[in-house]
Amino acid sequence: MDINIALLPGDGIGPEIIAEATKVLDRTAAKFGHRIRYTEALVGAAAIDATGNPYPDTTHCICREADAVLFGAIGDPKYDNNPKAKVRPEQGLLRMRKALGLFANLRPVTVYEPLVDRSPLKADVVRGTDFICVRELTSGIYFGRQGRDRHDTRAYDTCTYTIDEIEQVLRVAFRLAGTRRRHLTVVDKANVLETSRMWRETAQRTACEYPDVTVDFMFVDNAAMQIIRRPTDFDVIVTENMFGDILTDEASVISGSLGMLSSASIGAKCALFEPVHGSYPQAAGKDIANPMAAVLSAALLLEHLGLGAEGRAVRKAIDRTLAAGVVTEDLTAPGQRSYRTSAVGDFIAAQI
Ligand code: IPM
Ligand code: MN
Repeated sequence: MDINIALLPGDGIGPEIIAEATKVLDRTAAKFGHRIRYTEALVGAAAIDATGNPYPDTTHCICREADAVLFGAIGDPKYDNNPKAKVRPEQGLLRMRKALGLFANLRPVTVYEPLVDRSPLKADVVRGTDFICVRELTSGIYFGRQGRDRHDTRAYDTCTYTIDEIEQVLRVAFRLAGTRRRHLTVVDKANVLETSRMWRETAQRTACEYPDVTVDFMFVDNAAMQIIRRPTDFDVIVTENMFGDILTDEASVISGSLGMLSSASIGAKCALFEPVHGSYPQAAGKDIANPMAAVLSAALLLEHLGLGAEGRAVRKAIDRTLAAGVVTEDLTAPGQRSYRTSAVGDFIAAQI
C-alpha cells in the first residue's frame, strides 16, 4: 500500500520524537511491503517564526491531502508568560483541529506490566488498567460560539453544544466500546450545566441504538476521583472538550509517565496522531525525551488505515523494549541505566 503522511514535527522535542516514530514506521513499511511518503509542514512556534502564522495555509493543504497526519508537539516558553502575545502556538493547534474537523480525540490509558511500579499510585490499584478517553475536540468552551471577550474588570467565555455535535462524538465512543469490553461511561456535570443535561439526554437516546453497550453516567468531579481510585473499572469514557482535557492529564499519571500516552484525533475526512505530552522545551535537543508516545501514535495511525497487523507489530516491539529495560530517564527505576531517545528508537525498530 502507498501511504501519504503529513509530517508536522512542531516545537521543542517534537522533531526528535517524530524522527523515532518515522524510523519505526519505515522499518514496519519495509517489513510489510508498504511505501510511505512523508510531506513535512510547519506548525506552532516554528511556523510563527517562519511565517507569522501558527497554522499556515500550505500546512492545511498538506494535511487535507494526506492519508493521515503525524504530529509532534507545539508550544514555546517565550509565549507562556506573555498574555499580551497576539499570535500563540496553541492557536495553531486549535485552528488545525477545527479546520480539519477532528471532532473526536481518543486517548488510551494503558499500564504496561514492566512499568507498574513507575506509577505514583499503588501497583495493585493500577495493574491491568486499559481504558480510552474519547474527548470532544472541536466545540464547547474552547470554541465559545456565543463569544468570548474581555472588558476592564469582566471577562467571559461561552460553552455551547449542538445535539449533532454531541451525537457524532458519542457514536465514535459507542462504536469503540462495542469493539472492547462494551462499557461506556459518559462524564458530565448535568447537576449544574445545561450543556451537560443535553449531553446526558442525547447519550440516553443514542444508547438505544447500541443495546450491547452498557452505559453509565458520572459527574466530572466524581470521575476525577474514580479514575485514580479504581482505574481498572473503566473501558471507554466519553466527555466534552474541557472536561476531557483535564481528565486525560490526570489519567496520564496512572501509566507512570506522560511519555507513554498516544492519541488519535479523528474527523469525517482527516485523522491526526500525536503524543499527549507537550513540547517539553527543557529537554529539546538533548536526546533524552521518551519517544514511545510518538511511536504508539504511529501504531494508532497504522491501525486507523486498516493495517492492524502492522500496528500490532509496533506494539509488540514496544512491549519487548520495555521488557528489555531499554527506556529513557523518565521510566528508569533508581539505579537503572537510562537510554537516549535515539537509542530507544533504534531498539524498537530492531524488534519489528
Ligand atoms: C491538549 C493541550 C491543548 C488543549 C492546548 C495546548 C491548547 O492541552 O492537547 O490537551 O487544551 O487541548
Ligand atoms: Mn491538555
